[in-house]
Amino acid sequence: MTTGDMRTRPMPNEIGTILFDESAIANRIQELANEIGEQNGSGEITIICALTGALIFTADLARKLESPVKIDCIRIESYGNHSSAVSTPEFSAPLKNGIKGKNVLIVDDILDTGHTLSALISYLKRLRPSSIRSCVLLDKPARREVEVNADFVGFTIPDQFVVGYGLDYAEQYRSLPYIATIDQSVAS
Ligand code: IMP
Ligand code: MG
Repeated sequence: MTTGDMRTRPMPNEIGTILFDESAIANRIQELANEIGEQNGSGEITIICALTGALIFTADLARKLESPVKIDCIRIESYGNHSSAVSTPEFSAPLKNGIKGKNVLIVDDILDTGHTLSALISYLKRLRPSSIRSCVLLDKPARREVEVNADFVGFTIPDQFVVGYGLDYAEQYRSLPYIATIDQSVAS
């Protein structure tokens, strides 16, 4: 039998330690989907995927949710091509559908300083959804500058810059199937 685990894939030199491999991520996503399902019940969930980092996480999470799901995307940029955050995230690509009266679940890759999630919540609240919850795959509480927490958190990590599974460094490494630290002095 051929499984994903048996494939070998060269690891870029800049990659440091793998924090979460494919199976750890998959297991945690199933648990998150169960937690979300327990809180939400069987009603429809409108997922707002924060592009680009949450693309892969959203795709996997959405397929594990048992409720009916709608998916919309919003583009929000906090880092540009650098690894230090700017405090005013920029929105572009407005939502395709209205969210008035909907049960919204914001899905993002990582909660870091909190500026992005906080700005996203304020923005979406103005569109009068019935509820807003948030789910992030990773949480770096040590870096928080704005008081905001996610309702559902995949993994809490220390203050390290990580890539893979949607997360990038200067737009690279998003397609790595694992989440790993990166040696920024080696990365181009
Ligand atoms: P915040 O506004 O500082 O909370 O930043 C959230 C956004 O910054 C995330 O959606 C990511 O796009 C990006 N980000 C924060 N930390 C990392 C990291 O360690 N690796 C890659 N992207 C990160
Ligand atoms: Mg992001």
